[in-house]
Amino acid sequence: MSRTLWTDEQGVVRTIDQTVLPFERREIALRSPDDCDRAIREMQVRGAPLIGAVGAYGLALALRADPSDASLEHACERLAAARPTAVNLRWALGRVRRRVAAAPSARRAALAWDEAGRICDEDVACNERIGTHGARLLRDLAARRSGRAGALQLLTHCNAGRIATVDYGTALAPIYRLHAEGFPVHVWVDETRPRNQGAALTAWELAERGVAHTVIADNAGGLLMMQGRVDAVIVGCDRVAANGDVANKVGTYLKALAARDNGVPFYVACPVSTIDPDTPDGASIPIEERAAREVTHLSGILDDGSRATVRVVPAGSAVANPAFDITPARLVTALVTERGVCDASAGGLRAVLEADAR
Ligand code: MRU
Repeated sequence: MSRTLWTDEQGVVRTIDQTVLPFERREIALRSPDDCDRAIREMQVRGAPLIGAVGAYGLALALRADPSDASLEHACERLAAARPTAVNLRWALGRVRRRVAAAPSARRAALAWDEAGRICDEDVACNERIGTHGARLLRDLAARRSGRAGALQLLTHCNAGRIATVDYGTALAPIYRLHAEGFPVHVWVDETRPRNQGAALTAWELAERGVAHTVIADNAGGLLMMQGRVDAVIVGCDRVAANGDVANKVGTYLKALAARDNGVPFYVACPVSTIDPDTPDGASIPIEERAAREVTHLSGILDDGSRATVRVVPAGSAVANPAFDITPARLVTALVTERGVCDASAGGLRAVLEADAR
């Protein structure tokens, strides 16, 4: 595929500004920790693995400017606070910090830069393996389908594709794999209000790769499942607690409930770095509360191609905007990681965490 985050010979980090997709493909340069922090906070980059990778480069850039202990601590703290729910950001910062902590000041920036590069390379490799394991799972599911021919019907929420990671994606990796093998697959894409990551980003990605898909309003998935038009739900995630509870984009939980009620398997794809053994359960996962404006306003383009943002909520109404929700482990059929498929349970997670990285 092609990477969403890369560096040039001048030591500049480059990525795609996701706030202007799908109507414009604009590359941005991240030259300082401030640039990385802003890109994460303003969601120019988003998706758990990608914000982890950008955070790692942010720390490397901070150490390039000032390699002192104080700078290391300050940059870690600031970048970690940029988005609280996805554990990959904290995980990546911790990895870079451990790499440089004992090194002399003069070596720190180079070590951090290399470590950030390794995090990116590993993300690509992990996601490719998630694709392999997930595709096998979905092919088996398709083989067991009774009474329905035609493309495998999958439903996904938010964007857990190539641009939420360095490449391949998590939930979309198995779909890309199946598509590349010529296996017929069709994706129901939840629009994913309030920021419309499904309508804007997942649809854009799938169209770019020629994967058959249909965008639906967030509330349509339950009916489609009831009508037998969804073979499986597959989503990404931002954090898996030690008991198997999963945090993902708000609205995921409702899809999991509908899936359970209709006997539809509900799969969660993520790299092992998204599993957080230090968080005991879903209730302990911090849920990011975002600006009311994301709910009160919608952005897009007019028929003449110009951009527009319009208010869709009365000015006097109170608004709440929790960005993530928790899907209890009991509603998750299985997790798909780079180390294989496991139960969303303390035992299943332990086994995957202790397994050799293959
Ligand atoms: O707020 P976002 O767009 O960063 O939320 C992203 C999601 O919830 C994704 O599904 C998740 O990070 C998995 S990304 C591979």
